[in-house]
Amino acid sequence: MKTDTPQTIYLKDYTPPAYFIDTVDLDFSIESAGTVVTATLAMRRNPALAAQPLMLDGEELETLDLTVDGKKTAFSATPTRLTVDGLPDAFTLRTVVRIQPDGNTRLSGMYRSKDGYFTQCEAQGFRRITWFLDRPDVMATYTVTLHADQATYPVLLANGNPVASGEEADGRHWAKWADPFRKPAYLFALVAGKLDVLRDSFRTASGRDVQLAIYVEPGKLDQCPHAMAALQKSMKWDEERFGLECDLDHYMIVAVGDFNMGAMENKGLNIFNTKYVLARPDVATDVDFENIDRVVAHEYFHNWTGNRVTCRDWFQLSLKEGLTVFRDQEFGADLHNRQTARIREVRGLRAAQFPEDAGPMAHPIRPESFVEINNFYTATVYEKGAEVIRMIQTLIGRDGFSAGMDEYFRRHDGQAVTCEDFVAAMAAASGFDFTQFMRWYKQPGTPRVTVDGFFDAETKTYTLTCTQANPRASDDAPYLIPLRVALFAEDGSLLPGSERLLQLTATTQSFVFEGIAGEPVPSLLRDFSAPVYLDFDYTPEQLTVLLAHESDPFNAWEAGQRLATQLILDAAAAIAAGRTPTWPASFVDAARKLLQTQAQRGAAFVAEALTLPGETTLAELMSVVDPDALHAARNGLRRHLAEQLEGEFSGLYAGLTVQEAYAPSSEQAGRRALRNLCLSYLLELDTLAVRQLALQQFRTADNMTDQFAALAALANVNAAACPQREQALADFYAQWKDEALVVDKWLQAQSTSRRPDTLATVKALTSHPAFDLGNPNKIYALIRAFGANLVRFNAADGSGYAFMAEQILALHDRNPQVASRLARSFDRWTKFDAGRQAHARAALERIRDHAGLSRDVLEVVTRALG
Ligand code: PHE
Ligand code: ZN
Repeated sequence: MKTDTPQTIYLKDYTPPAYFIDTVDLDFSIESAGTVVTATLAMRRNPALAAQPLMLDGEELETLDLTVDGKKTAFSATPTRLTVDGLPDAFTLRTVVRIQPDGNTRLSGMYRSKDGYFTQCEAQGFRRITWFLDRPDVMATYTVTLHADQATYPVLLANGNPVASGEEADGRHWAKWADPFRKPAYLFALVAGKLDVLRDSFRTASGRDVQLAIYVEPGKLDQCPHAMAALQKSMKWDEERFGLECDLDHYMIVAVGDFNMGAMENKGLNIFNTKYVLARPDVATDVDFENIDRVVAHEYFHNWTGNRVTCRDWFQLSLKEGLTVFRDQEFGADLHNRQTARIREVRGLRAAQFPEDAGPMAHPIRPESFVEINNFYTATVYEKGAEVIRMIQTLIGRDGFSAGMDEYFRRHDGQAVTCEDFVAAMAAASGFDFTQFMRWYKQPGTPRVTVDGFFDAETKTYTLTCTQANPRASDDAPYLIPLRVALFAEDGSLLPGSERLLQLTATTQSFVFEGIAGEPVPSLLRDFSAPVYLDFDYTPEQLTVLLAHESDPFNAWEAGQRLATQLILDAAAAIAAGRTPTWPASFVDAARKLLQTQAQRGAAFVAEALTLPGETTLAELMSVVDPDALHAARNGLRRHLAEQLEGEFSGLYAGLTVQEAYAPSSEQAGRRALRNLCLSYLLELDTLAVRQLALQQFRTADNMTDQFAALAALANVNAAACPQREQALADFYAQWKDEALVVDKWLQAQSTSRRPDTLATVKALTSHPAFDLGNPNKIYALIRAFGANLVRFNAADGSGYAFMAEQILALHDRNPQVASRLARSFDRWTKFDAGRQAHARAALERIRDHAGLSRDVLEVVTRALG
């Protein structure tokens, strides 16, 4: 409760549960006055611990009755804890509570969305449904009975298998479900509503048939087939890659429009944000289609990595999340395009996780303490966690990693375990010593590896000296860092035998390459083999060689990013000093060459290579961020490229048209990405012809990828008057106002616009009928996306900060989790100048000092204020 003083919870304080729950029987009577939940729990004392009273977790429960072994029993209760004394070693506890799902605006526990009821129990939502030992190391088998009005709620679902159903008085009906698998409470789910269903099936490798079903709001069935195909592909992939077969008879996905996160892996009954289910070429972009593949796979993969083997406590969150993200990344890479998948993963990591790891919320992938666990569903736990798993695979090889997975399930199937248990299984299967590697689990911060190259013509040797440091760590001990390298000759040929996987284990360490005839160009951290900053004093010529010739697509891309980064940072410094930046012809030449190699290297790669590093990523590299200078510099380079390469961009734009019918294939998606990138560069010239070209693409596109790319490009036009922009925005809304997910895109195109009037637009949109403070997707599209708009959010007059503070305060009580995510917009406030800092501090203090502030937001702003 928000009135409690927030308590910090520590990993070191973990103790096993004092009681176990073997079976859970739940009865839900859904009525207009609330839902009555009767829970019958078969419990026993943990014989390993001294006897202590039973203490159950609860939140916003109206307790109607409590019996032990059928007898009314005395208990004491606070709003969040129910205590029963003097219990026998084994007993049946029965509680009856009433909950108010219609008034549940937090979207945690059981809540209403539109015309149905849904649940979200991770991490601690189950206690908002009934009194329970709401911790993941308490696992039980569940039976669930739902009762509701038949006409209003024809579909009644819970985990497991349907075992019985029937009608009852007053037009009501009931359904009973039984889940044969033991599970922690956070994997519980139920759904009641009027939903359409798409059914299919999957035959597993051993010949079992799994019934598949996707439930959606009526009228949306034609937006389900892509998710269904993704589910079937994931099931097959997990059998082939890891030998993991689906254990269920029924696998259900339910899409809901109001959801705090992306999706949830409840056993056999995943609940998804509609954003990661619904797709049709005219409403979803290539990126949406690909995200759906990945999120569907992610939740399915959790069935093994998360559900069959779960977390002992919430500090171990990365045990399931880092591993499952790694698995969905690998699936996505196999399904789409491995080269660009890796590039995008790193782009995302640098845009979100690196800043997080340098800011006030920095934490190890396995945190040691938290106030509110919901604040730790972070880029660090998920994305850096996946990088740590990837490093394990890099160190022991794919086969070693697969053997480690086998060993992990052999040891721990059915258990709630720790990150150490996972790594121990990997060590046992591979013989690799991971002792030093465990530092990756324990320290916050992004390590920096500084590399020096020394060529000795006499001895024909090349020596790489690597020094590692992590100023955010609690001590100076070195990490074990896998560093993939290769050497190239100046003509771009790979030096034979130079591809190596170096293992950095000391603070400073040298590696010698023999038989090197001339000064080579080192390619370091190939495939981004570790989540670190890598410094090497490259010359532009060396980077140009790598960009053109490196066979590792990640490092070819990286060379281009390094070139662009240097130019933009130099230009930002020049602009800040009142000088005009200059752009070297060599960069334009390299970009031109890239465009010419489109046919060989693939349009998708070229599109990635010509996308300049983002402002958020660049800002991390500046000691004091000048967002206006940075913005002007980056866009100055974009405009310069557009001027110099106008002919090339126009030619490619015309030549890359996709003739076939739309399909979200990686081949087509790559062409669209490059073509739309050409359009956005051309629009930097802001000629009437290009504006009309964009408007024409907007009007004639037969798919959302092209329609939205044109809209977003036009939304970014800076000119005070741009009738094509106004037209496209108005038409888009008129066309799509009834498709909630497309309206989100319309909001986001405006909140992420670089226009100086963006804050005014965003403010106006908060009272537009399209906006809804009750819907997380709308808040993320309009408010959070604005918070990530570096130049506009960090306006010098503090207006962006003041606006964000207002929005957080408007939301914190209604939905603390979403409000807390908004508060993360302030993470990097100390990187700006004194004037901006003063405004940000005032905004943060205003939030912090608000009476009754939610614990979620309080933890974030307290940490931000230091
Ligand atoms: N466990 C979910 C996932 O990563 C994320 C989630 C967390 C969803 C908390 C809802 C609430 O797949
Ligand atoms: Zn997950």
